[in-house]
Amino acid sequence: MTRIFSGVRPTGHLTLGDYLGALRGWADEEQHRAEALFCVVDLHALTVDHDPARVRRLSRQAVTLLLAVGLDPRRCTLFVQSHVAEHTRLAYLMECVADDDEMLRLARYREKAECARARGGSVRLSLLTCPVLMAADILAYGTEEVSVDEDQAQHLELTRNLATRFNQRYGRTFVVPKATRPVVGVRVRDLQDPTSAMGTSHARGAGVVHLLDEAEAVREKVMGAVADAGPDLVYDPAGRPGTANLLDVLAACGGGDPEKLAGAYDSYGALKKDTAEAVVELLRPVRERHAELVADPGYVDSVLRDGAGRAREMARPRVDAAYRGVGLLPVG
Ligand code: TRP
Repeated sequence: MTRIFSGVRPTGHLTLGDYLGALRGWADEEQHRAEALFCVVDLHALTVDHDPARVRRLSRQAVTLLLAVGLDPRRCTLFVQSHVAEHTRLAYLMECVADDDEMLRLARYREKAECARARGGSVRLSLLTCPVLMAADILAYGTEEVSVDEDQAQHLELTRNLATRFNQRYGRTFVVPKATRPVVGVRVRDLQDPTSAMGTSHARGAGVVHLLDEAEAVREKVMGAVADAGPDLVYDPAGRPGTANLLDVLAACGGGDPEKLAGAYDSYGALKKDTAEAVVELLRPVRERHAELVADPGYVDSVLRDGAGRAREMARPRVDAAYRGVGLLPVG
């Protein structure tokens, strides 16, 4: 079976966009077709200003939600990055394989660093090196496929380069992973700004539905979605992004076709109302399952303990081999 690795950053509350775009596919397809590792990458949350209590809370919440949406610890390995020391052990070796200029060229780092400097500040050194940590996350497990969006494509390219370079210099140690595009799911847009993705980091809350939002809050956000100008209801993602977004969401909830659904509505209000109810029903079982899991912290702890144990076993031999390969003295 193909080995795959996915990382979730505990930097914000998971959203409807995360669910329909990725998590639902992980639960329904990925964990069945592949040997899947799902990792809450808490160390990555420390690369920007952070509040310790919030990171702790969001990490726990991410794990609980991943279970609530249907990840099954008997079918996949679910764990927290900082519980498995192999990630940071390998990241250091990878820093010794990466060049400073290739890191300084990475687009995401440059954007963030420039932005901070324009305000007279700076960024954490770990923000510069976090793509190396990401490479270690992936390479430690012999991962064959990683599904990444455009934002992370450059970091996966770096991962492939580092793996290839390491193998050439020190002997074949790592699998060079392939990038795959997220196949299942839809790209849900911000309800207030349908030209951008509904993301965890979007500052304004009104356009973002969170998985744990109460039904009333979901209704309010969907009913408050921005309207496009124009009399008839058509599915036109470029010209009418707000309408298309609602149709996409409604279709994703019910398994229909957005274009056909457009023909079934003659008012924007009716479309919003049905979409709101569909999302409430979609999220209801997730919220209920989440509440059950919160009431059973011992179970979640045991999942994490087992997950970390399994992950460690998978990663350690390869990371040990890498330590030997670069010339470090074995313990004996
Ligand atoms: N860097 C990714 C992000 O910013 C998160 C991440 C960390 C990741 N390690 C990973 C994603 C490994 C895929 C594979 O979102």
